[in-house]
Amino acid sequence: MQEPTRFLTGITPSGTPHLGNFVGSIRPSVAASRSGGVESYYFLADYHALIKCQEPERVNRSTLEIAASWLAAGLDPQHVTFYRQSDIPEIPELHWLLTCVTGKGLLNRAHAYKAAQDKNHEAGRDGDDGVSAGLFMYPVLMAADILLFNAHHVPVGRDQVQHIEMARDMASSFNHLYGSHFTLPEAAIEDNVALLAGLDGRKMSKSYDNTIPLFAPREQLRKLIGAIVTDSRAPGEPKETEGSALFQIYQAFATPEETAALRRAYAEGIAWGEAKQLLFERIDREIAPLRARYDDLMAHPAKVEAALQQGATRARAQAAPFLQRLRGAVGLRPLTAPPAGPAEKTRTAAAQPAFKQYRESDGRFYFKLVGTDGRTLLQSTAFAAPREAGQAIARLQREGGAALPALADLLEPLDDARTAEAATALDKLAAQEN
Ligand code: TRP
Repeated sequence: MQEPTRFLTGITPSGTPHLGNFVGSIRPSVAASRSGGVESYYFLADYHALIKCQEPERVNRSTLEIAASWLAAGLDPQHVTFYRQSDIPEIPELHWLLTCVTGKGLLNRAHAYKAAQDKNHEAGRDGDDGVSAGLFMYPVLMAADILLFNAHHVPVGRDQVQHIEMARDMASSFNHLYGSHFTLPEAAIEDNVALLAGLDGRKMSKSYDNTIPLFAPREQLRKLIGAIVTDSRAPGEPKETEGSALFQIYQAFATPEETAALRRAYAEGIAWGEAKQLLFERIDREIAPLRARYDDLMAHPAKVEAALQQGATRARAQAAPFLQRLRGAVGLRPLTAPPAGPAEKTRTAAAQPAFKQYRESDGRFYFKLVGTDGRTLLQSTAFAAPREAGQAIARLQREGGAALPALADLLEPLDDARTAEAATALDKLAAQEN
C-alpha cells in the first residue's frame, strides 16, 4: 500500500493574523489539505512562541486567534491533524533525544542565533548577551516537531529552510546511531508568502507595522484600505499597476477577469478613492463569511479548544507509540525488556526496500539499499562524513533510478541486471517520496 505524503507545518502564535498570512499561508495550506493522497499536520507552535514572547496573555490570546482563523478559513479538523504543540508531551521528550545527537557546533551556525550574536557584537556587547538557551535550541525543537510525525514535506518560508536542513542532519545522526527510525524531511518553500504588499507598499509584515488584520471588522477594514499608499495622480489620469500596492492586493483576491478589468480602469484613470472602494468590496466579499465564523469562534473559545483536543488525541495516538519505540532504541526501557530489535522503517516496514546507513571499523561511513527480501541491492563506497552519505541517499530517494548514472562513482559497480533491479526499487521509493 502506498504511504500518503505527509505535510507538516507549525505556526508560531505571537500575533494577530493579517491578510498577508491569509494569502501566503492560510489559504493555500487549507486548499492543499483538501487534496487527495496527502496527510496534513498543522499545529500551533506555542513552545516556540515562548522564545520570543514572555507575555502569558498574549501567547494565550494569539493561540486562540490563530486557531480560530485557520478553522474559520475552512481547515477541517477531520481532514487535518490540527493541534497545539504544548499538548503533545512527546515533542519535548523527543527534543531531548535529538539534543543528545546534535553537535553544538551545528547550532552555533544557525542563522537566527548568529544574527543575535552579530547584533551584540556590533553594539560592543558580549555575543550571548540577552540570548536565551531557548533561542539557541530552537532548531532542535523544530526538528522534534517534524521528526515525531515523520513528515515528508515541510511548507515554510525561505528563512526557515536552514532549520529543515538541520532537522535532516539530526534525523541522519539518529538513524545512523540507532537504526533508521526517521524520514528525512524536505522543505517545501512557500515563495508566495512574501508577495502581499502592506499599507506602505513594502511587504506586509508585523515588523513593518503595515498590516491589515485578516478579521478586522468591516468598517475598520474600509478605513485601513483607505490608508494604502497611492501616488498623487488625479482622477482621470492613467495610473500605473506596476508597483501599486492596491492593485497587487486586489489581484490576490480577484479572478483573472476582475484583475483585467481593474487594469483597464487604471489605464482609463480611475480615481484612487474609487479603486479603494472596489478593493474593499472585493476583499470583504471573500472575508465576510469567514469573519462571521471567526467572530463566533472567538466568542466561544470552548469550540476551538475542543477542536484542538481532538487533534491532540489523534496526534498522540501516533506519537506515543513511536516515542516508545525511540526510547527503546536508545536504551531507555524496562530492565526486563529485550534489546530493541533491528529498526523497522516507520509504517512501511517490510513492504519497501530501505536504505541502511552505517559505520565500518575503518571509521568511514557507508550505506546500502536493502530489498524487501533482505538482499543488498546497492552498496556505497566509503564516505568521510555521514552527511555526505545522507545527501547521496536523499538524492536517490528523490530522483529514483534516474540518479544512478550521476552517482556511479559513489557506488560499487553493478552488472546490467542488478542495475535494473536497483533502479526499480529506487523508483518505488521515489514515487513514495514525491
Ligand atoms: N519556526 C517556524 C516559523 O517561525 C514555526 C515552526 C515551529 C515550524 N515548528 C515548526 C514550521 C515545524 C514548520 C515545522 O515560521
